[in-house]
Amino acid sequence: MKGIILAGGTGSRLNPLTEVTNKHLLAVYNKPMIFHPLDTLLRAGIKEIMFITSPDHAGAFLRLLGSGERYDASFSFKIQEGSLGIAHAIGLCKNFAGKDDVAVILGDNIFEDNFSDAVESFEGGAKIFLKEHENPSRFGVAEIVDSKVVGIEEKPKNPKSNFAQTGLYMYDSRVFDVIDSLEYSARGELEVTDINNKYIEWGEMHPEYVDGDWTDAGTFESLHSANVLARRISKKYEDRQHSGIGKEQTEDVIVSKTDKVA
Ligand code: DAU
Repeated sequence: MKGIILAGGTGSRLNPLTEVTNKHLLAVYNKPMIFHPLDTLLRAGIKEIMFITSPDHAGAFLRLLGSGERYDASFSFKIQEGSLGIAHAIGLCKNFAGKDDVAVILGDNIFEDNFSDAVESFEGGAKIFLKEHENPSRFGVAEIVDSKVVGIEEKPKNPKSNFAQTGLYMYDSRVFDVIDSLEYSARGELEVTDINNKYIEWGEMHPEYVDGDWTDAGTFESLHSANVLARRISKKYEDRQHSGIGKEQTEDVIVSKTDKVA
């Protein structure tokens, strides 16, 4: 499975923090935000990763992340012109993905869990990862009937459950045909929720529930929560992980990564 990390968009909800930089370069506890979703993919065993970013700060991402060699991974970068939606950003990765399955993670999502089982057990169709949230209206929200997810609504005023769709998705290669068939929403974006509803309609969506903590970091309040969660996660993985490096990496690599991030 290949990985896609989305770090485009405008980050306008975090102005003035994002006045002169990209949201995903802001610090979340001890490293730039983008390292957290990167850690999640690396921990899940995903090594071929495409980063999508906005034109203004693409150079900074290249300097920060490099080729991926120091993570024993391979990184590619693509620019998204305009904030045309999560599904639009995924669509830019069609050639990168080829016939492979993809795991897509939003660059502002912080997860405590390790998703390697979900990657290994993926057998086509799609997966979303749901988490109960006290204020689900800010997210895509699942409608659940008889324990079955029958639809997702994007930012509903009256949510049909408390289960938010988090910013991690797995798809087979048909996702690119689905994206080609989407129409822009009222807010002018191609919506990830519309992709997911298509797989639900086909009966090929396999939802999972997230056990550990999760937050996004796209508002001042959630950015604060993200710092607290990232601090806890960094302690949790301390014994086997140093700033995003998996235990299978050599000490030499850990030293060079530490130098780079510090
Ligand atoms: O965090 C989970 C939520 O993320 C889901 O529950 C929602 O269904 C989903 O639509 C999304 O909602 P947000 O309103 O939080 O999405 P936002 O526009 O903040 O974008 C999230 C990330 O996606 C952001 O960190 C950058 C990336 N992105 C976003 C857009 C609109 C792009 O790379 N390109 C884009 O055009």
